[in-house]
Amino acid sequence: MQSVVRLHVHAGLVAILLALGHVGLGHGQANPVRMRHGMVVCQEKLAAQVGAEVLRQGGNAVDGAVATAFALAVTHPAAGNIGGGGFLLYRSHFGEPAAYDFRETAPAQATRTMWLKDGTYDGQRHHLSHLAVGVPGTVAGLHLAWRDAGSLPWSRLLQPAIGLARDGFVVSDELARSLKDALPRMQRYPASLAQFTRQGIPYEVGDLLLQPDLARTLSRISEQGPPGFYEGETALLIELEMQAHGGIVTREDLKRYAAKKRTPVTGSYRGFEIIGMPPPSSGGTAVIEMLHVLEGFDLAADGFGSAVNLHRYAEAMRRAFADRARFLGDPDFNPPMPVAMLTSPEYANQLRQSIKPTQASPSSPTSFVWPLETTETTHLSVVDADRNAVALTYTLEFSYGSGIVVPGAGFLLNNEMGDFNAVPGLTTTEGLIGTEPNLVAPEKRMLSSMSPTIVTKDGELFMLTGSPGGRTIINTVLQTLLNVIDFQMNAQEAVTAPRMHHQWLPDQITYERHGLSPDTSEILRGYGHTLTPIESQGAAQVIVVRQDEQLLEGGADPRSADSAAVGY
Ligand code: DON
Repeated sequence: MQSVVRLHVHAGLVAILLALGHVGLGHGQANPVRMRHGMVVCQEKLAAQVGAEVLRQGGNAVDGAVATAFALAVTHPAAGNIGGGGFLLYRSHFGEPAAYDFRETAPAQATRTMWLKDGTYDGQRHHLSHLAVGVPGTVAGLHLAWRDAGSLPWSRLLQPAIGLARDGFVVSDELARSLKDALPRMQRYPASLAQFTRQGIPYEVGDLLLQPDLARTLSRISEQGPPGFYEGETALLIELEMQAHGGIVTREDLKRYAAKKRTPVTGSYRGFEIIGMPPPSSGGTAVIEMLHVLEGFDLAADGFGSAVNLHRYAEAMRRAFADRARFLGDPDFNPPMPVAMLTSPEYANQLRQSIKPTQASPSSPTSFVWPLETTETTHLSVVDADRNAVALTYTLEFSYGSGIVVPGAGFLLNNEMGDFNAVPGLTTTEGLIGTEPNLVAPEKRMLSSMSPTIVTKDGELFMLTGSPGGRTIINTVLQTLLNVIDFQMNAQEAVTAPRMHHQWLPDQITYERHGLSPDTSEILRGYGHTLTPIESQGAAQVIVVRQDEQLLEGGADPRSADSAAVGY
């Protein structure tokens, strides 16, 4: 076991201790990083160091999150991004929490039938083409949050990312593997190959990855703010790439993009206040709905991982995911959605009564399974010395998004349009959904599962969580909350513990390969559940505030090898 490791620190950064654990201190089976003042937990350690250093220099949580997010766009290109979108949940140590929505939008020329080719649905077009690219939101969203609540100069927050792109950084084993996996999709795009291979040969662990075009784009954003991305040279480069390959994102679309500040959804769970992301994410609504259902059971008494609890989880998940499909989409393009109803304790009571103690309720066999989705998104949690907090999840959708690097601009474009439903009215067992709330329309945001979440107790900050993983995000976040609140796990135990997932359809529980004992599985099968093992679920990044010790406790998900909790 490892106690404290002194890291090689990137040039310009003061040494920060990356504590991977404290042997023998009795904090639990998996040891969290414990720090006093500020902390960043995210999926790549250079980016975590960047954010922690911003905090140490007096930046607040928003500053730390913005700097980390820009750094991840360089060091974790599978999901860190400026060409994608996401959600930032902010809670200042005083005042109301705020939700920043920088989800991508459909371009003006988008139509409900744009995924049809000769009258037939074309999944390639929907998920992996220039038509899959939504208008990116990340730069506008980070800037809006910073303008509202940041304290350090904008350019200071971009400077580390620019350095990492311009001077390069050492490719980790995890990055080398993931770039190699992405290679087949990048083959069609010379600019992508130029950026992420050495003349077509995959990078290996220990190589230096330089991204000079990205450094220049980040410099324009640093100097000009959002116009450095949404107008001028960057916008022109995006439009040229679109025009050359049948894409429809225009400079006008880019100029019209606006991030939005929304009111978070909230609920209470066993005396804790849960603050979550409202639509166009389904995350906060679904997490709170499930918590309310589960609050009526004594989970702690029945024990972590017991069949009866996993059955309850699966039944709560099944119901929340059915509601998600039925009701949720972009709030600006739908009639008022019943979010208040879905997050009300009364509704949860009704749902709970429909759960049989030892019998699965089959999902409707006439309906559908879900469309294609992968697991590359990324989450970061940040707390500063004043206990301001940011939980931020953002994505390119698939790993490396569309796989398309904008020539001359050095960043990957998302393929987020794939999160819109495929074809109006076409709902099939092969995985297409045609329900109304999430059909494409110009400037509409596609429904998301991203679930950055903040928890308070008696008005004080208690916990931050979030994860990648497509629809599994919602259930990963749920289980980190239950692990800490019901099972008294520390932050590291809570992210390390095995997870499971149910999403209504297909009607099955997926579970992590070593996360379920044979006898527990047998009981669940006896209840009528179908069980499918998977390799792993999510990459949660959690911070718990221990008020009594005045310490921050960080849990970085070991499922993602480069994850790190860094603080001071
Ligand atoms: O917004 C969403 O829900 C998806 N586009 C997220 C995609 C994702 O999480 C992929 N993997 N983690």
